[in-house]
Amino acid sequence: MSSKPYFDAVAQQWDQMRQSFFSEAVREKAIAVAGVQPGKLAADIGAGTGFITQGLLQNGLQVIAVDQSEAMLMEMKRKFAGAKGLDCRLGQAGSLPIPDATVDYVFANMYLHHVESPPQAIQEMVRTLKPGGKLVITDLDEHNYEFLKAEHHDRWMGFKREDVKRWFEAAGLQQIDVDCVGQNCCAQSSCGTESASISIFVASGEKRRARKRER
Ligand SMILES: C[S@@+](CC[C@H](N)C(=O)[O-])C[C@H]1O[C@@H](n2cnc3c(N)ncnc32)[C@H](O)[C@@H]1O
Repeated sequence: MSSKPYFDAVAQQWDQMRQSFFSEAVREKAIAVAGVQPGKLAADIGAGTGFITQGLLQNGLQVIAVDQSEAMLMEMKRKFAGAKGLDCRLGQAGSLPIPDATVDYVFANMYLHHVESPPQAIQEMVRTLKPGGKLVITDLDEHNYEFLKAEHHDRWMGFKREDVKRWFEAAGLQQIDVDCVGQNCCAQSSCGTESASISIFVASGEKRRARKRER
């Protein structure tokens, strides 16, 4: 089932909720791993209210922020009203509103565990990257906290790092690395009986450049 109604409903509280789940250190790690350069164009997929987008704008990048939820995007526009270089677009994992090979970086934080098909979502993000462009995904390691499915509309209970690495390879990325962020995502069940603390991984890879033809 789509998580859109859930994210539409929590959009105005998302920033507060997010702070209780994970810290700014996740964003700092993702941006550091990408080695971003000012003036380049990045996409933030499943951008929500702009957690990653904020860091990218602060680093002097232009950002296309994509999300399925109008309410999340409205909240982001309200927060970053007047900010230069931000373009918010409504879009779905399977058909992102970004042309082929046009962006230098793609980021996706806590998005992959909500999509129907993670390998297809990765392929679709890679489609938008220029050759030599980088994909950086931060998400949850595999866990067994069932309440996150019921209460936070998680579709996948995190991921095995070897699966993420395989999906990056299948999507045509090279120089792949899947590492620890060094931070956990924490959440409490609504009845207060369960408390989740899940390690976060950062996966990165570079899109292959076209080979020069040999004579
Ligand atoms: C857990 S939130 C993370 C938001 C933001 N990246 C952050 O770190 O605060 C997941 C976001 O992904 C979006 N999302 C989930 N499934 C999606 C899909 N199939 N297509 C586009 N966006 C999706 C949701 O609407 C939500 O804003």
